[in-house]
Amino acid sequence: DPADPCVMVIFGAGGDLTHRLLMPALYNLAQTKLLPKNFALIGLGTADRTTESWREDLRAGLERAQSRIGEIDDAVWHQIAPRMQYLRGDLNDAALYQKIGAALEETDRRYQTGGNAIFYLAVADRFFATIVDKLGEAGLTHQNLDGDGKRFWRRVVIEKPFGNSVESARVLNDQILNTLRENQVFRIDHYLGKETVQNIMAFRFANGLFEPIWNRDRVDHVQITSAETVGVEKRGKFYESTGALRDMVPNHVLSLLSLVAMEPPARFDAGSIRNKKTEVLNAIRPVTPEHAVRAQYGAGTIGGEKAVAYRHEPDVAPNSTVETYVALELEVDNWRWAGVPFYIRTGKHLSDRKTEIAIRFKQAPAAPFIDMPDCGLRPNWLVLRIQPDEGISLQFEVKRPGPVVELAAVKMDFHYNDWFPREPNVGYETLLYDVMIGDPTLFMRADTVEQAWRIVQPLIDAWAADPGPIATYPSGSHGPTAADELIERSGRAWRPVELPPELRD
Ligand code: BG6
Repeated sequence: DPADPCVMVIFGAGGDLTHRLLMPALYNLAQTKLLPKNFALIGLGTADRTTESWREDLRAGLERAQSRIGEIDDAVWHQIAPRMQYLRGDLNDAALYQKIGAALEETDRRYQTGGNAIFYLAVADRFFATIVDKLGEAGLTHQNLDGDGKRFWRRVVIEKPFGNSVESARVLNDQILNTLRENQVFRIDHYLGKETVQNIMAFRFANGLFEPIWNRDRVDHVQITSAETVGVEKRGKFYESTGALRDMVPNHVLSLLSLVAMEPPARFDAGSIRNKKTEVLNAIRPVTPEHAVRAQYGAGTIGGEKAVAYRHEPDVAPNSTVETYVALELEVDNWRWAGVPFYIRTGKHLSDRKTEIAIRFKQAPAAPFIDMPDCGLRPNWLVLRIQPDEGISLQFEVKRPGPVVELAAVKMDFHYNDWFPREPNVGYETLLYDVMIGDPTLFMRADTVEQAWRIVQPLIDAWAADPGPIATYPSGSHGPTAADELIERSGRAWRPVELPPELRD
């Protein structure tokens, strides 16, 4: 069903996120008829420009996204294009919010958007609290859900980073919840918009097969990898004050971990699911530096191309000690998982782009096979491939054909593409649609964000107190040797970062 009529107000109209992801996602929603007919878009920015030039930029952004969204259907574009408006202003200036208020009233009148509004904060995090304050002061966050009179809602979407420590996340939560109710706040973690991530719960809880073995009796350990080939690109300035730990772990990686490790919710509703995810984070011990590795990319070669060292990237200090790679060993100290290590790693400028969750099951007893030639039993692996080559595979042992009894490891493989020919999707469609229908399931709740920061806080503190020197790894490698040593301490090994040749970029 199409979502409620509404207007979306984007703070950061000229930014990369708006062009690369939000506009293509809105377009896809319109094409699949999930965008309400009575929809309008207001963009806010600091640049002095016209609505017409903003519209042209958005259209150019769509054209650049054609490999992901398919050829642009002009009828769909013309459904949204006339309902766009660009407003210029200073985010700190109360006058801007008066202007927004007037534009909202006008939009309601012209396009019957019903008083419903989404404020999307696609700006630097230092503006989040100010914008929410000022929206509140201008009376723009007031909604009427169940009182007398006309019903309408007001919602605020907040991009990451949500804070940069436990303390700052708490302060930011307090600040925004001063103005907003929790049900108006949608803290985005775009990993939760990925199909494969949403599928984790379906896979675990809609099948009778897996849940009984999903625990410390049967699982040896879990590996979560989020490897990237890209470097910091044009975001050197942001990354210098962020680093890989803050950029990826308390949000994307811990979201993946919580979906793999959570208890089954009694219902598939936002409250039950978010409770279970938060509960499992609550059971994770804060990581100490002895269980963590950080490193920074040096120069190297990625996919045949020369790649520069992090310290030579634009806006990066030549002696920077900021990490571009982290590996951690986490302990989920509850009845399901105690004693099962969760190894996670994420880094930039690695050999391949690959995000996966791999579950290694305990080895079968070797006795029956002990007399066989080369009888190294290989473990069973269940791998949830988040990206690319989205799918799930299970590795198990079989008898190699022939008169001699010998074993071989084989795979049962599910590829999304085989079953569901790819729908064009940039990843933000589900998230935007959920905001429009008011479903917060895929968004981070205030307490969940704070729990996630709590887990990594000791590392933030330790690394701030002792900034370096920091180890390097060659660009295009699988990461630093210290990460291998971290997992080898328990006699285990990382799965390869490398993709099979046919899947490499
Ligand atoms: C962002 C990080 O949140 O996620 C980036 O800030 C990172 O540094 C990106 O590259 C990874 O997202 P994806 O969807 O490409 O895996």
